[in-house]
Amino acid sequence: MGTNELNRGLEGVLVAETQLSHIDGERGELVIGGFPVDELAANATYEETVFLLLHERLPTASELGEFRAELRAHRDIGAETEAVLRRAAEEDTPPMDALRMGAPTASLGVEEATDEEAVRRVVAVFPTVVATYWRYRQGAEPVAPRDDLGHAANYLYMLTGTEPDEAAVRGLETYLNTVADHGLNASTFTARVVVSTESDVVSAATAAVGTLKGPLHGGAPGPVLDMLRTVHESGEPEQYVRETLESGERLMGFGHRVYRVRDPRAAVLSDAAERFYERGGDVDFFDTVREFERTAVDLLAEHKPGRRLETNVEYYTAALLHGVGVPQELFTTTFAVSRVGGWMAHCLEQLDDNRIIRPRSRYVGATDRTWRSVDDR
Ligand code: COA
Repeated sequence: MGTNELNRGLEGVLVAETQLSHIDGERGELVIGGFPVDELAANATYEETVFLLLHERLPTASELGEFRAELRAHRDIGAETEAVLRRAAEEDTPPMDALRMGAPTASLGVEEATDEEAVRRVVAVFPTVVATYWRYRQGAEPVAPRDDLGHAANYLYMLTGTEPDEAAVRGLETYLNTVADHGLNASTFTARVVVSTESDVVSAATAAVGTLKGPLHGGAPGPVLDMLRTVHESGEPEQYVRETLESGERLMGFGHRVYRVRDPRAAVLSDAAERFYERGGDVDFFDTVREFERTAVDLLAEHKPGRRLETNVEYYTAALLHGVGVPQELFTTTFAVSRVGGWMAHCLEQLDDNRIIRPRSRYVGATDRTWRSVDDR
């Protein structure tokens, strides 16, 4: 089988069947584990979302209790990983690189496995790795995970050392649910390629972190927050948008490769951010977020009349994560803390009906060379 048509970037190529998530880019719909993303994000805990992805159904109360306990039991990362992360923080290693080094170290003991125990360990250690690195980076000691807190609450607790309030936990939880899976994006594809060779899930997660790190994949919410801060200070959204577009730059947080309407995740996160800011956040800042979005969408329509450029997930990710207290430097690692659930579910799905992923390339190099010994070249 095979065609000679070159498809750079594999755009539109079908390479897997999945029960995990479905994207309709024309209609702006995202279904995760059978639920519209807004319904899942607003109601589930992150643990329920991961269980749903791993088992393709929601857990019963007792299954959920067990699953939570199993995740909690895997949260500790051990002294060796702490040492790696301390060194990374001292060396000013960027957060995603620290995660790429810390997560596999923290998974010692399950490094050859592809079973659910290994999957749970990988999901459980991600928040601890990120928070431990961040504490060192702040010149503070790590905060040990707390057994009585859920996945989202414990992450915030380990970052700050104080128990987060309900609104912040709900805000973060909504974010973690919303971005846990999104079709065959680049990092998820990476994870599936790795396990398709019958390698292990720790290697898959590590490679996926490396893929997510790239600015074309996971890097936009940081610059979005910079932009929102600038506009909040100047109070001149229209001027900012016009100047950006006139200089030929792209407006961060708008446009999407797949969605031709507003990204459904932007809607979920925008509602969550509104609820959060109204319950005691910086309402003034959030007013800027809203006003800027309206201005940007209108001016983008003028700028590119034939192409709908709407708000994407990164725009409200920035507003929401900033609101609930996740430091800007950790936006991409927090994305990884969520997406690792999707990566792991895709690994198990791939292994369930595995075929090594091995596309082809077209050779366009030289063919008629004659070998010359080194002295003759
Ligand atoms: N601001 C201004 N113009 C934009 C734009 C944006 N955010 N997004 C797309 N455009 C313009 C492009 O310049 C291009 O114009 P041209 O035809 O004159 O060259 C046209 O719209 C189509 O862009 P294209 O690059 O084909 O769209 P894409 O589907 O490949 O790009 C993104 C999708 C996400 C890469 C792109 O919209 C973008 O760079 N957005 C900003 C970064 C961002 O928010 N990333 C997070 C994505 S979740």
